[in-house]
Amino acid sequence: MESETLSNLDDQQLKYLLMYNLIKSNTKFIELSSQLQEQILTNNSQIDTLKFSKIQEEVQDEISKLKLSPSISTNSPKTKPTTVYMDGVFDICHSGHFNAIRQSKKLGDILMVGVNSDEDVLKSKGPTLMNVKERSALVRACKWVDVVIEGTPYTPTVEFLREVGADYCAHGDDMPINDMGVGCYDEIKNQGMLKVFKRTEGISTTEIIGRLLSCTKKPSMNNTNKDEPITSMDLIKKVRKASASDTELDELKLKPIMSNFLSTSWRITEFCNNRVPKDSDKVIYIDGSFDILHIGHVEILRKARELGNFLYVGVHDDSTINKYRGKNYPIVNLQERTFNLLACKYVDEVIIGAPWMLTEDLIRSLKIKLVVSGTDTKYDEYVSVKDDLNVDPYEVPKKLGIFEELKSDYDLNNELLVQRLLKNRDGYIEKYQRKSVKEAEYYENKSGVPKEI
Ligand code: CTP
Repeated sequence: MESETLSNLDDQQLKYLLMYNLIKSNTKFIELSSQLQEQILTNNSQIDTLKFSKIQEEVQDEISKLKLSPSISTNSPKTKPTTVYMDGVFDICHSGHFNAIRQSKKLGDILMVGVNSDEDVLKSKGPTLMNVKERSALVRACKWVDVVIEGTPYTPTVEFLREVGADYCAHGDDMPINDMGVGCYDEIKNQGMLKVFKRTEGISTTEIIGRLLSCTKKPSMNNTNKDEPITSMDLIKKVRKASASDTELDELKLKPIMSNFLSTSWRITEFCNNRVPKDSDKVIYIDGSFDILHIGHVEILRKARELGNFLYVGVHDDSTINKYRGKNYPIVNLQERTFNLLACKYVDEVIIGAPWMLTEDLIRSLKIKLVVSGTDTKYDEYVSVKDDLNVDPYEVPKKLGIFEELKSDYDLNNELLVQRLLKNRDGYIEKYQRKSVKEAEYYENKSGVPKEI
């Protein structure tokens, strides 16, 4: 288990960590630090001392305004901030996971997130599509996470919580059972150390795996019928939330997948950064589908953000992706993809439904200084509009001399995930069916569930 536990830190160090988190999430500090950064960059090594002391004064002013909770006030050095541990599999990290992390952060001062080990998950739940390194990368990139512990047990104990220095454990109101048939959080609950938040309805890994299963093709040595679905009609109907006869299968495969995830304006506000770029900011733009979010996406977003101090992410709408990537895509709809991107700490703002072709008008109105793209291609071999492939979507920024290609370090994409799925499709179908029953039970029996925070 690779860990960055808090148990080795003393109270003073924990206080610093908390201060760091408060500062990190304070918009005024973000603004001041970018001003300072800009000054350093524009004046080379010569810092304008007058401007610097003004910034220093503003920083001090802001620090005095920070409201520290009584438990961490500097007058009581013996008490320490509340550390909350939450964990999960986080396979195909989705907006429900990010909403769970967001709620957990509100339950304490410092949030530690454990990502369950591949071996433990396989034993208790079934195979994962992404390995622990890939799953952890998404959690690490989430803006509400302070500490990540990679390879944690599927059933955490009170002893484990003490070892990592957590005061509480948080979990959604859908308590899992482990391979021994025991509630994974029973021991912690009995010790009064469990905090429960509301599970986000309408989205789950199982649901996304179902969407992938229903649109993948049967693997075969001599695959003559590429359109043959690998799964039963029942599964396709369930995932597409449709009722149809077996003869209507082809038509059904073309139907868009319905999602029950609610994109309320309240939720959007909770995810937003409420940041706008200043005139002096170096604004970077990157676009894409960002369908199933993976380690490659967060790495390219990190690289893009490092090139400036404000990152716009343009996310294409469902019909644009469908047109350029083929009939089965996107797997994750525009609203869900927007939430995933807003949860990422490298993203400042999202352009919801960005155009495929970057126009001069968009570049000017967003004051974009640099457009970047990963080396992974934007096109797909199954695209239905072959003629459009001759048009370069980055023609305008290239002409303006503001385009840069960033090396993609990970070649993970939807197709590769589908290949992983196909390698062990029986295992996934079995897991899907087991989990779907559990999810149906959850929706049927939910009563007295906590309110979303
Ligand atoms: N979670 C949530 N809402 C969802 C999905 C997950 O609040 N729609 C929460 C879970 O309650 C848990 C955490 O996210 O506290 C991690 O969940 P995970 O272990 O990955 O597994 P599942 O709950 O099984 O998630 P999924 O059904 O998506 O696999």
